[in-house]
Amino acid sequence: FSSAIAILIVIFAFVLDSKQLLESAKLGLASIDGKMDSAVLNISNALNVNLSVWYQTADCYDCPLLFTRLVSPMSSSLLDVQTNFMSQLMVSYVNTTGINRTICSKDFRFHESGSYELNIGPSNNSDLGPDPLSPLCALVTRSDGPDFLIPLYICLSVILLFFLLRAAFYTIREYDFWRRMQAGSQVEYVAQQDLGSVDANINQSDSLAIHSQYQRASGQGSQQQQQPQSSQSAHSGGRRPGRLRCLDTFRGLCLVVMVFVNYGGGGYWFFQHSTWNGLTVADLVFPWFVFIMGTAIGYTLRRSLRRGASKRDAFLSVCRRSALLFALGVCLTSRNVPLDQLRIPGVLQRLAVAYFCVATVEIALVRAGQPEPQPCRIVEEQGQLLGHWAIFLTMPVAHTLLSLFLPVPGCPTGYLGPGGIQANGSRFNCTGGAAGYIDRLVFGDWHMYRNPTCRRTYLTYVPYDPEGLLGCLTSTFMCYLGFVAGRIFAHFKGADYRAIVVRLCFWGIVTGSIAAGLSGLSRDTGAIPINKNLWSLSFILALSGLAFILLAALFLINDYPRLAEPLWSGSPFHYPGTNSILVYVGHELLEYYLPITWLPPSSWQPAGTHAFLLPMHLWGACFWTLVAWILHRNKIFFSV
Ligand SMILES: *[C@@H]1O[C@H](CO)[C@@H](O)[C@H](O)[C@H]1NC(C)=O
Ligand SMILES: *[C@@H]1O[C@H](CO)[C@@H](O)[C@H](O)[C@H]1NC(C)=O
Ligand SMILES: *[C@@H]1O[C@H](CO)[C@@H](O)[C@H](O)[C@H]1NC(C)=O
Ligand SMILES: *[C@@H]1O[C@H](CO)[C@@H](O)[C@H](O)[C@H]1NC(C)=O
Ligand SMILES: *[C@@H]1O[C@H](CO)[C@@H](O)[C@H](O)[C@H]1NC(C)=O
Repeated sequence: FSSAIAILIVIFAFVLDSKQLLESAKLGLASIDGKMDSAVLNISNALNVNLSVWYQTADCYDCPLLFTRLVSPMSSSLLDVQTNFMSQLMVSYVNTTGINRTICSKDFRFHESGSYELNIGPSNNSDLGPDPLSPLCALVTRSDGPDFLIPLYICLSVILLFFLLRAAFYTIREYDFWRRMQAGSQVEYVAQQDLGSVDANINQSDSLAIHSQYQRASGQGSQQQQQPQSSQSAHSGGRRPGRLRCLDTFRGLCLVVMVFVNYGGGGYWFFQHSTWNGLTVADLVFPWFVFIMGTAIGYTLRRSLRRGASKRDAFLSVCRRSALLFALGVCLTSRNVPLDQLRIPGVLQRLAVAYFCVATVEIALVRAGQPEPQPCRIVEEQGQLLGHWAIFLTMPVAHTLLSLFLPVPGCPTGYLGPGGIQANGSRFNCTGGAAGYIDRLVFGDWHMYRNPTCRRTYLTYVPYDPEGLLGCLTSTFMCYLGFVAGRIFAHFKGADYRAIVVRLCFWGIVTGSIAAGLSGLSRDTGAIPINKNLWSLSFILALSGLAFILLAALFLINDYPRLAEPLWSGSPFHYPGTNSILVYVGHELLEYYLPITWLPPSSWQPAGTHAFLLPMHLWGACFWTLVAWILHRNKIFFSV
């Protein structure tokens, strides 16, 4: 019955899709010509004076209007305007006394590949004021252009269709639909299904074991009956939590999105890093990676220590892994770089530092051989982590104090902006405030990232590294918040599943609310704006909040034991999740080679369009998922 429903849904979706697909494909193809993220504004001047045109986008916070061009009398000029944010335009001329006089200013949100006109001419108003020239200034929309999201809609429907077909395929296979049709014998079918499910039991022994354990624990309910069971399991080295699928799924999801956005995200601005303050899809994945690493530490490290691994061995292995990760990171960013300009900070380096700190503190503070404490209330539970909290809370405090109160020569204390033309250029070399200052002092201008995202919009020139030193403090704290989630899993897995979800949601709401308070729910005007370049406190708290909630949801879907089978196994995302280092290094190294990315034939002019880039970048993400899947099938796992 359910397979029939699945088939019906697929057929319905396909009919619905194909109709829309055909229509939108035409529009999507039409959007191939025209530049991404920009529209054309034809400024025509029907006056007898030279007009100056000034322009700025709302993306640039607190920025002055910039002079773009002079339009001579009785002529016109084309201006490329940005479409991602509100645009601000101003037209002025220098009158006979040599003073700039503004004719008009307009705020307007242009649409991608649209075409617009700004007509400036003499007014046909008869009652002229004291100024002989009171001109007319009209912004006319010629065409808004096709919806630039159409390629995204098409790709999303294709992906949805794929998942539906896949679900239908598995449903059919599982229920042995065809065989039943042929045999027509109910008994035979039942017998076969029985045999089949024995096989399935062996494969899924892990999750089923936990399932039955849970049933025993919850079914009998009373304290006295639970007691012997838990003491028994404590005797045999604590509860044996299996591999958490939601962790692999979450990690894999982050990786796939990371590959997609690193390859360019189809040229969409919301799949690229934000210019300075703010949050885009691309800003989510790396911090979540840091978080999930902490969760893995919290979930597994103490378990292996309790099993009798010596602290010294554990610490040596932590040192080895972080050193390897760090070295790998330095090597990855060293393509065609002279030795004296090697970039030292970076993504993997940041991961290495966070991993080292959290794992070391855990090894130092855990008392080996002590059994897992009984499940208890949130307050008592965090009381057991008091030492951890004392150490890790100093980090965001130090980060915030340093950012707000460290005097930076030539810059206002507590400046958190990108410098450049912001505030009329008065903070020109202050990019990143204290964070940038510390990095330039420690690493020197040549050993850090020189092309920050704010460069083009704010016209900055000083180097700034978004993975710099100061941000290590907040990333480590974020990793620790992930660790807290990992402890929750280790603590309650196999005993109380509702407690896990409640606690994850509790932490998600707490961290999310603090972030909302700090940022004042505004992009630029809060006390501490959400900022990926600085890894500001509000940024890591907001992302930790989202991560807690997402983890709770994934846990319910992937690991919830009440169902004989999880709602969703996490496939295909858990494949890259189990081979993350390989996928990360691989996608960085092979970015420009054929099966992954390509350029259009040279005769084909408009290469940089969403319709061309989006499928390619999605394919890049699929490619690495496929690689991870093949490796998973062959049981090949790389780790440092
Ligand atoms: C811009 O507008 C002027 C006046 O409306 C027109 O003469 C000119 O051809 C336009 N330029 C373009 C490139 O469309
Ligand atoms: C406009 O500017 C050009 C040079 O920038 C100058 O030669 C011309 O005289 C100016 N015209 C008017 C009307 O001011
Ligand atoms: C030039 O513009 C300024 C400012 O708008 C105005 O005060 C002045 O009277 C203007 N001069 C002439 C000659 O129009
Ligand atoms: C007037 O405009 C010109 C550009 O057309 C600019 O260079 C100049 O600085 C402006 N003067 C004032 C006083 O704003
Ligand atoms: C110019 O004047 C005519 C009649 O006086 C009027 O119909 C027209 O709308 C005016 N045009 C503009 C752009 O104001």
